[in-house]
Amino acid sequence: MKDLDFKSLVISGLTIAFSILWVRSYLKHQSTIPAFVGTKGFFSYYLAALHLLWNGGDVIQQGYTKYRDGLFRIPKLHRWDYVANGKQRIAEVASAPEEILSFNYGVEDIIQADYTIGPQMTSYPHNATVVRVGLTRNLGRCFPQILDEIVHAFDDVEALKDNSDWKLFQVMPIAMQIVARTSNRVFVGLPLCREKKYLDLILNYTVTVFTRGTIIGLLPALLKPILGPLISTRKSSIRHALKFLGPMIDERLRKDDECGSDWPGRPTDLISWLIDVAEGEERTTSALTLRVLATNMAAIHNTSMTLTSALFDLTAHPEYISPLREEAERVIAEQGWSKAALGSMHKIDSFIRESQRLTGTAPVQMPRKVLAKNGFTFSDGTTIPHGAFLTVSSIPVQYDPDHYEHPNVFDGLRFFRMRDESAQEGGTFTRHMVSTSADHLVFGHGRHACPGRFFAATQIKAMIAYILINYDVRSETAGVRPPEQCWGLLRWPNPWGRIWLRKRGSAE
Ligand code: HEM
Repeated sequence: MKDLDFKSLVISGLTIAFSILWVRSYLKHQSTIPAFVGTKGFFSYYLAALHLLWNGGDVIQQGYTKYRDGLFRIPKLHRWDYVANGKQRIAEVASAPEEILSFNYGVEDIIQADYTIGPQMTSYPHNATVVRVGLTRNLGRCFPQILDEIVHAFDDVEALKDNSDWKLFQVMPIAMQIVARTSNRVFVGLPLCREKKYLDLILNYTVTVFTRGTIIGLLPALLKPILGPLISTRKSSIRHALKFLGPMIDERLRKDDECGSDWPGRPTDLISWLIDVAEGEERTTSALTLRVLATNMAAIHNTSMTLTSALFDLTAHPEYISPLREEAERVIAEQGWSKAALGSMHKIDSFIRESQRLTGTAPVQMPRKVLAKNGFTFSDGTTIPHGAFLTVSSIPVQYDPDHYEHPNVFDGLRFFRMRDESAQEGGTFTRHMVSTSADHLVFGHGRHACPGRFFAATQIKAMIAYILINYDVRSETAGVRPPEQCWGLLRWPNPWGRIWLRKRGSAE
């Protein structure tokens, strides 16, 4: 189909879709659950939906303040969504069975995975198991490769070469490159993890899936099967990825079929872990390629955004550089580089967790779709209808003075002190970077809490320790942290934010 035809089709489709949806969603907004302020009439509904796009964080904060342990509805352009507040409700969402309150269909709803990635992501969601069983259990074993790739990645980033003088760096693109390489050293190994075109493909894949998924999500159900495949780039992405991954996966499958799954020298990587659980149609080269793309999508952007935020915090609060560097140097001198050594870096762990508490989450988390025919009923009897989309407030929870002392203050050693107090009282410490709870939702909570968080923490802690040991850092403007970017209910670190970097040991 010619470009022009395609564009006209999409524009006409979207126009029809919006008209139908505007009327439908307005008509459907009767519910006993309170609606967000200013949404009583047809026009005020859409004004509030537009307001949410520019002020998502404020809307969720107001809903949290007003309905502290309750529920409220927020107007989206195409429907009402539900938001739950309070420890008890979070616990109930976190523990609800998948067939009642579905994480997989929640994600499907956000990125329209059936169209953008493939229907098997929702119908056969085994990525979490692969990460939990394959990746997390092998982290200690894979650590030397992770470290080796961090060292090479820093050496190879053109902008970081020969920087014996202070230089200004745009953090996010470099963080993306380094995290993509390090992750793929474990996912697909050398030499592919250093291939620029492959890295570009996986970095662009996430952006494409999210943007096209958002457009498809606005279409009414009737139009999705017609326009969804035209808007999505699912098939071309797989074709492109097969060029890089196809020969390697073909060969791995052939060898496994011939020798079983424990032949000498079988790589310890994502491809092997995926093959270990794949059956039937999943045990094909193209299905496995799709899983590699999907795992990259879950992993890379979240990890690089967390690294970027932590570097903004480190440079905006330079008083932490010295104690964190002292810790990194001391632990490495005593134990050498290992996953266990990272476990002894308590100040760095606390610092990154604090950075995540303040800027590492969106206004809402834990997306869930109500699958139960009779809806999802909380223990107080409130019911969310079948088919509705539910999340929980998360930024407000992490800025709540009932949960954290001086919640708006960046206190990099907050959790380090709690660890000390807990040790003195003989208690169990539950505030590690990877710990989830109803007052720390960065990685979600409960049965779908991020299974990749142990890998992410290993990477980010190793990278921060490596930077502290090898580089001097300072903010572009003393004490100023590049502001976060927000749109709707999304929030991410400033992609243009820069910091100064200089190789250590250079003359003042
Ligand atoms: C700092 C980095 C990361 C952050 C902030 C993060 C955050 C999250 C969040 C919020 C969820 C949803 C939890 C819920 O709704 O209850 C999630 C799920 C998931 N994450 Fe991560 N993630 C990170 C890194 C990773 C990495 C490195 C991987 C893979 C190697 C990964 C793989 C997954 C998978 C497979 C799921 C789905 C879990 C399921 O189906 O039960 N994530 N992540």
